[in-house]
Amino acid sequence: MKIAVLNGSPRKENTYAMAEAFKEGAEAAGHEVEILNVVKMKIAGCLACEYCHTKGEGRCVQRDDMDTVIEAYKTSDMIVFASPIYYFGLTAQIAAAIQRVYCIGKPAAKKAALLLSAGSPNPFTGAISTYKDILAFTGIEDAGIITASGEENKSEAKLAEIKEFAKNF
Ligand SMILES: Cc1cc2nc3c(=O)[nH]c(=O)nc-3n(C[C@H](O)[C@H](O)[C@H](O)COP(=O)(O)O)c2cc1C
Repeated sequence: MKIAVLNGSPRKENTYAMAEAFKEGAEAAGHEVEILNVVKMKIAGCLACEYCHTKGEGRCVQRDDMDTVIEAYKTSDMIVFASPIYYFGLTAQIAAAIQRVYCIGKPAAKKAALLLSAGSPNPFTGAISTYKDILAFTGIEDAGIITASGEENKSEAKLAEIKEFAKNF
């Protein structure tokens, strides 16, 4: 299976460790995994101009690094969203990459997963709710959600849990 992991953290710390653990586990199970650092990419917000649904015939009017993410949306069997919690939600950078799927309607993926990192014990409700609503809307199956809070971040136990999780698709 081809898997794209969208990393929404600007740091190579907690979320990135979760993304890498997922990659390691999934590759051990024979999957092809690419981590897309959407925070390092230049991805503007959707302009709602509807060019993509008219003259653009599925292509966004904006030429930026979203082209790379759209390619991954079109060709991946599974999408993993990995993000720190910023003010009870996903980061602005990963939200832009999620919303810009608008030009093609939805990802081709049949499965998705969510990896979330936060400082405090339970700020995940908003991000999980957004993720579940998007999956319901696009008809993509939820393969699982893993969260890490405070001390759990980068802990051996949490990274081992993610590696095991990634082997089971
Ligand atoms: C702008 C900003 C907003 C944050 N908002 C929250 C929050 O609402 N709840 C929380 O528990 N942690 C919050 N945090 C802490 C991060 O979610 C936490 O440190 C996380 O582990 C960072 O992941 P990273 O190491 O991948 O960047 C925030 C951090 C930043 C920088």
